[in-house]
Amino acid sequence: MHALPILSYLLSLIIPRLVELLIDTGSSNTWVKAERYVHTNTSRQTINRVSVTYGSGSFSGIEFIDLVDLGTGLNISQQSIGVANKSSGFRDIDGILGIGPAGLTVGTLRPNALRSIPTVTDNLFAAGTISQNLIGISYNPTIVEDAVNGELSWGGIDSSKLNGSVSFTPITSTFPASRYWGVNQSIRYGSSTPILSATAGIVDTGTTLILLASDALDNYRNVTGAVYDDKTGLLRITPAQFANLQSLFFTINGVSYELTPNAQIWPRVFNTEIGGTQSDIYLIVSDIDSPSGTGLDFINGYAFLQRYYTVYDTTNSRVGFATTPHTFATSN
Ligand SMILES: *[C@@H]1O[C@H](CO)[C@@H](O)[C@H](O)[C@H]1NC(C)=O
Ligand SMILES: *[C@@H]1O[C@H](CO)[C@@H](O)[C@H](O)[C@H]1NC(C)=O
Ligand SMILES: *[C@@H]1O[C@H](CO)[C@@H](O)[C@H](O)[C@H]1NC(C)=O
Ligand SMILES: *[C@@H]1O[C@H](CO)[C@@H](O)[C@H](O)[C@H]1NC(C)=O
Ligand SMILES: *[C@@H]1O[C@H](CO)[C@@H](O)[C@H](O)[C@H]1NC(C)=O
Ligand SMILES: *[C@@H]1O[C@H](CO)[C@@H](O)[C@H](O)[C@H]1NC(C)=O
Repeated sequence: MHALPILSYLLSLIIPRLVELLIDTGSSNTWVKAERYVHTNTSRQTINRVSVTYGSGSFSGIEFIDLVDLGTGLNISQQSIGVANKSSGFRDIDGILGIGPAGLTVGTLRPNALRSIPTVTDNLFAAGTISQNLIGISYNPTIVEDAVNGELSWGGIDSSKLNGSVSFTPITSTFPASRYWGVNQSIRYGSSTPILSATAGIVDTGTTLILLASDALDNYRNVTGAVYDDKTGLLRITPAQFANLQSLFFTINGVSYELTPNAQIWPRVFNTEIGGTQSDIYLIVSDIDSPSGTGLDFINGYAFLQRYYTVYDTTNSRVGFATTPHTFATSN
């Protein structure tokens, strides 16, 4: 995950205290800050230490097994969780609910470094609590602070949140995106300007922005006329450039997903929270800080995911996308 300090997408989890965790499809360890963890008679400490380093932040602590109640009749009696006595980069949240593929947890435990840790979704499926090992995620474009307008659907797709059908794509075979919810995708600007040719990257709720390989970002900067803004670290455009901004099209397994001009800008009401100026216009497409060809050339983060319903299907090793009534919303 690569998170900016605001816009966290929270779920409440009871262990037995209610904690607020960042939903992260880009990592797979679930953990809570030690000061937020209450030991009860369901808590069992293991011999393992656990640690993870993220794109922004890290934690380390001790592995416990405990009852996790996801608050909707979904209980996991023996869930591995990290209890972190050290963390950085997570100021406003109590921890992370990691719902990436379990393979990402290999190497996070010591001494049992080879063990992979089943995620909450894996354990719900193994216990028969859900009938399919998948999760559907719905967000909405958010322009008010602390809005609660997302939904996690374990074990099935919530068709009330989408207005088209779900198109699936197999998890990419390209390493390292193949370890994540990774997909092949190309990106163009407007009707025909290539931004990124077909390549592998990941779908990550824990990353706030859309991140592109540096050469692809140069292409985007060129066609939009954007400049780097030192205060926010984002690209900035003028009102005239915004008036001319065209849609981006993300093509995944033959289907094009449009990101309108409104969907490409940082919600103006939050400009000052990232050190920006209220009246300026910042773009939510940013730099992954490496050239294309690394096997992880883009991250479709929250800025993309608030416009499309997504499905993370472990059973069939595939990721699904669908339009929603908010895909073309003109908020911002
Ligand atoms: C654990 O604590 C709860 C609440 O105090 C109690 O109801 C339950 O019987 C206890 N379970 C065990 C196995 O001790
Ligand atoms: C889940 O666990 C909580 C806490 O132990 C308990 O109160 C609740 O009844 C459980 N719910 C289900 C569906 O098992
Ligand atoms: C966290 O716990 C481990 C194991 O008990 C200990 O070695 C370490 O010093 C602790 N770190 C902090 C910051 O308390
Ligand atoms: C993704 O792209 C790679 C590299 O072009 C290709 O080998 C692979 O077959 C594509 N599809 C999948 C599902 O990985
Ligand atoms: C933008 O791309 C065009 C066409 O490739 C090129 O001629 C121009 O120099 C580029 N401009 C910048 C600022 O990179
Ligand atoms: C879904 O809703 C959006 C926004 O209202 C609309 O533009 C789009 O055509 C709808 N798609 C379908 C398949 O109904």
